[in-house]
Amino acid sequence: MSADPKRGRFAKAKGEIILREHEFDGIQEYDQKLPNWWLFTFYGAIVFFVGYWFVYYGTSLLTNPQQAVQEKILAVQAVQLKELNKLLADLNDSKLVYELATNPLYVAAGQATFTKNCVPCHGVDLSATQDDGKGKKIPLPGLPLTDHQWKFSDKPMGLFNLINKGSPPESTGNNGAKMEAWGQKLSPVEIAQVLSYVISKVPADFKDIPKPAAN
Ligand code: HEC
Repeated sequence: MSADPKRGRFAKAKGEIILREHEFDGIQEYDQKLPNWWLFTFYGAIVFFVGYWFVYYGTSLLTNPQQAVQEKILAVQAVQLKELNKLLADLNDSKLVYELATNPLYVAAGQATFTKNCVPCHGVDLSATQDDGKGKKIPLPGLPLTDHQWKFSDKPMGLFNLINKGSPPESTGNNGAKMEAWGQKLSPVEIAQVLSYVISKVPADFKDIPKPAAN
């Protein structure tokens, strides 16, 4: 408590400093009214906030950030779907095995995508293991892609679908690990490329796929 703080108009008129009665840790507060210009900006900000909030979230006059993001996502998904359908209209088992997986440029592009995205789970050599540097192989979460066994589909288009959409909903995964839908991150062309790379490593697995009709 400050001893006898001077208060009121009288002290103020004399130009004396007026303090409020409370004190905390030796800190005191002037007893002065905030200037009106300050108060009006403050109250104005509150009124503006209520109006702004109402217009944004209570009416459909302006799109709020959530709606804007949602619209963008839908637009991106529409573009992705169009691109996918365009590629799928033109893609089939024979084309993947005999055209794309034998095209060095396509396979090289697929290898780059594989190195960047798939190696952590499927390994550099597609064996789903990693060398620990002492000659021991540590298993990785993915399935081996060179063991000539295909868990879901042994058809190229089935594999395309699996990579695009990830583990099917009914899969319990490989030791519980499932694969994500790569279509969320890779373009359809990139998926076709990475699959061509995988096919190029085990062409014998796809020898039953009919050759494209000669024209
Ligand atoms: C986070 C780990 C992970 C990454 C990264 C990953 N996969 Fe997988 N992959 C898995 C798992 C786990 C399975 C088995 C899924 C299941 O059983 O449901 C699988 C299965 C597969 C299969 C089917 C294998 C079979 O024997 O039938 C293919 C093909 C495949 N992945 C390709 C890819 C490609 C291509 C990429 C990179 C774009 C990739 N994976 C990235 C974990 C991964």
